[in-house]
Amino acid sequence: MRLGSTTRCLHICRSIEEFRKYRKALGVKTLGFVPTMGALHDGHISLVKKAKEECDIVAASIFVNPTQFGPHEDLDKYPRTLERDLHMLTLAQVDCVFVPDDNKVMYDDKPLVRVEPPAFSAIFEGVARPDFFRGVATIVCKLFNIITPTHAYFGQKDISQCILIKRMVHDLNFPIHIRVCETLRATDGLALSSRNAYLMAHERERASILYKALNASKIYIENAKSEVTRQAIIQECERVLRSEELVTHIEYISVASSWDMVELDSIGPHGQGCVISSALHIGSVRLIDNLLVGRAADLIYDST
Ligand code: PAF
Repeated sequence: MRLGSTTRCLHICRSIEEFRKYRKALGVKTLGFVPTMGALHDGHISLVKKAKEECDIVAASIFVNPTQFGPHEDLDKYPRTLERDLHMLTLAQVDCVFVPDDNKVMYDDKPLVRVEPPAFSAIFEGVARPDFFRGVATIVCKLFNIITPTHAYFGQKDISQCILIKRMVHDLNFPIHIRVCETLRATDGLALSSRNAYLMAHERERASILYKALNASKIYIENAKSEVTRQAIIQECERVLRSEELVTHIEYISVASSWDMVELDSIGPHGQGCVISSALHIGSVRLIDNLLVGRAADLIYDST
């Protein structure tokens, strides 16, 4: 099926066979892939733009992946806005979108094999969402095998997901360049996210506290002449967060390696750098964000 004007059409594939036929006809062109679960926003479109700069053909996928939702997370409530998403992809001049008709296209009744990243169940986001990383690794692996992209694009906002995918590609030898694109931010620094819509007006006004706190920790490390401890970095972040009474719960503050998200004891001026990340609640809304410090940025943005 094709959607759009006569000059620019979005090719829509509903089955794996249909996409494989489309892919085969393309030949050996570079193909940039933007996997999504739909409910598209400007962050997704910025990934598409990057892919269009770097690749001959751009494909997206829209699939709300059930295996990355925990039993307490409401899969049915996940926003489904297919018509709007297809319109946005058409306007962004995406060439093709893979939209599996239903879960049966992607999953067998009783799959025997899945991709398991055991270390990720111990990291902070993994403890908070125990099924998430296995579900993401498995579905992204399957999508890579279907789409066979040369490049794939992920937003830095979900930094643990980015590191997981980079490591999966490295450890399992996928011939794919993983491009991590910087988080889009509102003018006050708040990372763009579909969840921001759930913030009340007065909460939205103060929600940039998360970015400010992460930034304070980053500056603290950068200004230090010698090694700083993880505890001191966390204290600096917490000091700023605690100054905002609308922060109802700090779930975690993490100072981790950009190679495997393992927590670091200290950061030195000439070391590997780190990822500082945090999850907190403002009212009932859970927000996450992260910043890269020092050489961590080189490792994350490098796509070789
Ligand atoms: O980031 C997402 O939207 C999802 O985790 C992904 C990568 C599309 C896998 O379902």
